[in-house]
Amino acid sequence: MRIPIDARLFGRGSYRAATCLAASLLCFLLLHAAAEAAQHPVPLPKNPDSAVCLGCHAGKAKGKHVHSAIAMGCTTCHAVTQQKDGTAVNLVSPAKQLCFSCHQKSTDKLLHGPYAQGNCLVCHSPHSSPWPDQLLASQQNLCMGCHVRSRLKINAKKRTVTVPWGVTLPLAQLKGAQDIGLNKALTLNHPVEGHPVTGPNKHVGNGAADITCLSCHQPHHSQLPNLLPPNLANETALCKTCHKNE
Ligand code: HEC
Ligand code: HEC
Ligand code: HEC
Ligand code: HEC
Ligand code: HEC
Ligand code: HEC
Ligand code: HEC
Repeated sequence: MRIPIDARLFGRGSYRAATCLAASLLCFLLLHAAAEAAQHPVPLPKNPDSAVCLGCHAGKAKGKHVHSAIAMGCTTCHAVTQQKDGTAVNLVSPAKQLCFSCHQKSTDKLLHGPYAQGNCLVCHSPHSSPWPDQLLASQQNLCMGCHVRSRLKINAKKRTVTVPWGVTLPLAQLKGAQDIGLNKALTLNHPVEGHPVTGPNKHVGNGAADITCLSCHQPHHSQLPNLLPPNLANETALCKTCHKNE
């Protein structure tokens, strides 16, 4: 079932040029405000090392899954500059470019919307989290967060959307995201009616990992449509990886 999340809300063609313009203007203003509000609440010494930062922000280097880059020091990503009235702390490059400065952007044919836009922080913490790869929620909840309409909180007036783990985005960034039409318990009916998206992978046998969205999809990019896993000839080959004798 391919129901665009945004179309269901506002009807097709609701992305009038004016809306897009207003959204980008708002974005620009917000970014601008963020740059000006970079004054750090506490004055800091010149060239501080991570130990100084951790004196007050210990949580950033702790947790079950800590980003490998934390070991490279806080100032790898945060630039500390002295100003006449205090200290400013800014990201060394805009948030949407920062991650690509160390993680090369894929050249695959299909890039997942939020990945393509450099919106890594919708899904990952830059520091640490309780989930592998510093994800902001379990993998399944992360995917369902944007692809199950009932999980999204939409503010029609502000044209923003808040995902279940609390990040708020301009609605325009959800453009093209489909509601996958799961049953009420969010366990069945995708990619075909009655198909499980969670639970034991009975077709592969004991010891197989449970089914999740990532049994059949890549989170970032793919050479195939629908972000299917790499090294498959086509969609039928995907089915055969589990339905071996059918
Ligand atoms: C003496 C305590 C202290 C030290 C040392 C400290 N911070 Fe902070 N920092 C704070 C407080 C208090 C806030 C405001 C509340 C919050 O966001 O936690 C803050 C806020 C921030 C913010 C968000 C607001 C902003 O200015 O953008 C960043 C980023 C930040 N600190 C980075 C750092 C880095 C990087 C270091 C080390 C170079 C550092 N801090 C050292 C106390 C400190
Ligand atoms: C200064 C370089 C640098 C920057 C900037 C950077 N990373 Fe990393 N990141 C690394 C290194 C090094 C590793 C470990 C080796 C690898 O997986 O490439 C890593 C690994 C990761 C991992 C795998 C889990 C782990 O921690 O080993 C994730 C997820 C990740 N980075 C996300 C991000 C996101 C999101 C951003 C932007 C907020 C980002 N990275 C920015 C250097 C960086
Ligand atoms: C890989 C890059 C990277 C590294 C390394 C890094 N940060 Fe950050 N940090 C970010 C980004 C990106 C944000 C903005 C997060 C957002 O807007 O959601 C941020 C935001 C913050 C904030 C304010 C918002 C919040 O999450 O509380 C603080 C405080 C902070 N960092 C402290 C630190 C400290 C302390 C270290 C060193 C232990 C550190 N950071 C290392 C990328 C990094
Ligand atoms: C839609 C959510 C989502 C977005 C957006 C996203 N990621 Fe991920 N990322 C994931 C998931 C889920 C995994 C775990 C994949 C796995 O276990 O197979 C992951 C894993 C990773 C890893 C470790 C494994 C690997 O592929 O090397 C890195 C590094 C990473 N992401 C970087 C990034 C960067 C950089 C961006 C932004 C350009 C980004 N991610 C955007 C969901 C996301
Ligand atoms: C922040 C919101 C967000 C999250 C979280 C998210 N998606 Fe998406 N997804 C989108 C948007 C927007 C599109 C439409 C743009 C595009 O085609 O990539 C999309 C498209 C897709 C598509 C269709 C791609 C195509 O064009 O063929 C698949 C498949 C998909 N997402 C799977 C996932 C999976 C798996 C996860 C969890 C790892 C996930 N999504 C998490 C926003 C999200
Ligand atoms: C058993 C494999 C499988 C699982 C598990 C799976 N998908 Fe899919 N998904 C597919 C296939 C195959 C397609 C292409 C369907 C088509 O072309 O009609 C697809 C298409 C999509 C699309 C594109 C829109 C659409 O409906 O055609 C999105 C978004 C998506 N999946 C998200 C998810 C999310 C989120 C999860 C986890 C809740 C998930 N998928 C679990 C196989 C799977
Ligand atoms: C990750 C493993 C996996 C993949 C990949 C997979 N399936 Fe399945 N499929 C299952 C499991 C597990 C069941 C449930 C079996 C049970 O309950 O006995 C199932 C059940 C089904 C059913 C029966 C649904 C019902 O109503 O009971 C159909 C039809 C089906 N799959 C078709 C497909 C198609 C078509 C594809 C490729 C697009 C596919 N499957 C890919 C694991 C998978």
